[in-house]
Order: sequence, then structure tokens, then C-alpha cells
Amino acid sequence: MNDHRIDQILIDTDELHRRVRELGREITHAFSGTEALVLVGILRGALYFLADLSRAIDLPVRIDLISVTSYTGTESSGTVTLLKDLDEEIQGKDVLIVEDIVDTGRTLRTLLDHLQGRHPRSLGVCALLDKPDRRIIPVPVDYVGFTIPDHFVVGYGLDYDQSYRNLPHIALLKPSPVTP
Ligand code: IMP
Ligand code: MG
Repeated sequence: MNDHRIDQILIDTDELHRRVRELGREITHAFSGTEALVLVGILRGALYFLADLSRAIDLPVRIDLISVTSYTGTESSGTVTLLKDLDEEIQGKDVLIVEDIVDTGRTLRTLLDHLQGRHPRSLGVCALLDKPDRRIIPVPVDYVGFTIPDHFVVGYGLDYDQSYRNLPHIALLKPSPVTP
């Protein structure tokens, strides 16, 4: 994509797909024998990851979606608002939250508390990306695709103001030019 705000590729398409297949194998192994594995994707950033990860898991899975918002531009507003709840019951089920990126940890903390209240059999987290340097609220992340430095990234589902989600790789976004 020819865009002046796209800096450089951080994780290319092949690397992404290789790692997603590995995560799929790990999860398949960890949940073998489960009666119901529910993948809960966080809209909209986790869409591409969820689609690929679910196909890399060799178990019967169910998919549900939840939608939250906390970001405008590249800054977190600090308040996490639930826009869309689950469609299905998760009581007694093995639930894995599928997230695009863990940044401050606020989104995950809110969702873990929210979903724990529904009494799943187990509740875990699989995040494609983790930016540990940005963490404000400690959260447990069971499966991480890639640990990355503190830099705003886009692509493979991640957006900047709703753009760039359809890039097939993870790219660094240049900071916006300061207007004098
Ligand atoms: P947290 O609540 O601060 O952990 O933020 C998590 C959410 O912020 C993620 O689900 C993303 O939607 C968004 N986010 C955090 N860092 C980035 C980034 O580098 N690029 C795009 N979105 C991001
Ligand atoms: Mg987002």
C-alpha cells in the first residue's frame, strides 16, 4: 500500500501465518478433550486473527463476538465501553478470548471480569500481539503471538481511525506530523 504514514513492515505475512499455525497447534493440544471451546473475538481488531486462528485449531470450536471501544486515533481514552455483548451462554464452557493486541491491559481486565461473571469452566486469553512496556493494569495472557516494542502498529485487523485493517502484514505507523 502506497501510504505516507506506513513506515515499515514489522511482521510480514508469512511470519504471521506461521505463528498463527503454531498457536493453533498449542491450543489444540492444551484443549484436547474439551467439550466446548468458545473463541470470543474482540471486534473489530481481532477479526482476521480469529478467522485464521480458528482454522488452525483442530477441535470443534464455537465462535462468539464481543465489541468494546476505548481508542480514538492512537490514544486510549482510558474508559472501556461494551458495545456488543456475547450472543451465547458460556457457563460451564472453556472460553478463550481472542484479542489483537494487549496494550495498557484495560480492555482485557474489563472483559475478563465481565466474562468471569458468566461462570465459564475456564477463561483464557490469546493475543496476537503484546506491548508489555505499555502495561498499566497487569493481566494474564496465556498465548502471545509476538511481543513487540512500544510503537503504534496497523494491519491484519489493527486500525488507525478505522483505516489499514486490511493490510496483510503488521506495519509501523509514523507519528502524525506536527503542524506548526
Ligand atoms: P488496552 O485496553 O490499552 O490494552 O488496548 C487494547 C486495544 O487498543 C486493542 O484491542 C486495540 O484495539 C487497541 N490498540 C492498542 N495498541 C494498538 C496499536 O498499536 N495499533 C492499533 N490498535 C491498538
Ligand atoms: Mg482497535
